[in-house]
Amino acid sequence: MGSGRWWPGLVVIAAVVVVASCASQGKEHLLVSRIAFGSCADQNDPQHIWDAIVKFDPQVFIWLGDNIYGDNKRPFNVFGKERTIGPWKNARMFVPSPKQEMELRYKKAKTKHGYSRLREKTKVIGTWDDHDYGLNDAGKEFDGKITNQGLLLDFLDEPQDSPRRVIQMDNLSTVVESYQENSPWLQYYRRKQDGVYASYTFGPVGRQIKVILLDTRYHRDPLLSDGTILGNSQWTWLEKELNGPASAITIIGSSIQVISNLSATTGPFISSEAWGRFPMERNRLFKLIADSKRDGVFFMSGDVHFGEITRYDCATGYPLYDITSSGLTRSVEEEVPPPLHFLVRLVAQWTPTTMRVMDPNCRFSSCAYGQPNFGAIEIDWNATPVTLKIEVRDIDGLPVAGIKMPLLELKAGSVPAATVETGKYRRHCSLESTLPWLVRYRLAILLFSAVAIFLLALIAFASAALSLSRRWLRKSKLD
Ligand SMILES: *[C@@H]1O[C@H](CO)[C@@H](O)[C@H](O)[C@H]1NC(C)=O
Ligand SMILES: *[C@@H]1O[C@H](CO)[C@@H](O)[C@H](O)[C@H]1NC(C)=O
Repeated sequence: MGSGRWWPGLVVIAAVVVVASCASQGKEHLLVSRIAFGSCADQNDPQHIWDAIVKFDPQVFIWLGDNIYGDNKRPFNVFGKERTIGPWKNARMFVPSPKQEMELRYKKAKTKHGYSRLREKTKVIGTWDDHDYGLNDAGKEFDGKITNQGLLLDFLDEPQDSPRRVIQMDNLSTVVESYQENSPWLQYYRRKQDGVYASYTFGPVGRQIKVILLDTRYHRDPLLSDGTILGNSQWTWLEKELNGPASAITIIGSSIQVISNLSATTGPFISSEAWGRFPMERNRLFKLIADSKRDGVFFMSGDVHFGEITRYDCATGYPLYDITSSGLTRSVEEEVPPPLHFLVRLVAQWTPTTMRVMDPNCRFSSCAYGQPNFGAIEIDWNATPVTLKIEVRDIDGLPVAGIKMPLLELKAGSVPAATVETGKYRRHCSLESTLPWLVRYRLAILLFSAVAIFLLALIAFASAALSLSRRWLRKSKLD
């Protein structure tokens, strides 16, 4: 047997060993150039949008919350036993579901045909928002959060020994009583985490994408408190993540919008949740990013049932984008009958915004998109310079709003330092709340005026009818 004979065999064995060790390390080192994301998927809705997402063929898909609708909405009842609206209301509009029901709903979502197909070849990660956390608009006070954390992580196929999983307190007492100080059990407990926040790094060194997913529910103080969204432990973690090794791109996923402060212009009718509702917390986030000197950071968000791209130039040395995709099934236009869709678009057009990125290529002139949509990120690593394209796409996978730029633009000093002179309006810098009140409240003014005109017309009509009928009565008496 010549020595030449067994060389090929050795090569095969070596190759197998290399492949096997790569596989055990996971696919984290493979170059990632396509990422999709989305939010607000009602498990009871048809979910045709997965076909478009599968066609886009993302390497990573990111859930940004309301991945299922786990809570239950009671009907609008002004009268009766359970009154859900009016000053005399005695029942909450939303009620949480028991664990078994949550499990059923997750199962329904997970076995949807399109989503199952996506899961076969795409890495799926995610965080939650209020409806999968368990209750509409809920924060740290919600007592179903520990149970539901486990359910979300099961849905995302999080390994049982993941640091994201919570170990119940009764396991702690078992651990402390029966094991030594350095037992693996105790270490297991120490790895427990309150909340579902997590970070991932994809791609080879130099072309890495870091995805940081925030938990905006588990530790959140009540709305209007101007308290915390993330809580101490998550802030400490985030600080470490942002100050850690550099990456070409850093995506921060937040279930609620970071840049747009919709409530400032849609109040008092609609008040959506957003980082803007917690101004101190928001400033802390911007300062942390600026102080970390990290380039290539942008946000992605969901929650609001429409898609849009916003941009804020006055926080760090470069523009901070927030790409909002909402929802995969639930969207503002779906909530009204088709003949009224034009009204929704008119309202979108009329809602003042200082942060939205306007572009003639948008599907609608408002550049907000109120039909089902998903987010699509493409990075051309081979272009010089490297380019980043981010789009909100419709149910057929066609873009409805988008931005395209060299990655270099997300680098401190790439654009002249943005400042705003006091009292002067500057797009992508002036906060919504600094708009002149006539502009800021024009939706409310329009609506109140419309209602007032309608009421006046009604009164005029009624009094005309009354005087006519009186005259007729008098006339018929005389006859
Ligand atoms: C917690 O303890 C229970 C029994 O008390 C056990 O069944 C369960 O597997 C433990 N959970 C973990 C994550 O260790
Ligand atoms: C966002 O709008 C709310 C409601 O008008 C306001 O209280 C808050 O200060 C605004 N936040 C920012 C950052 O402008």
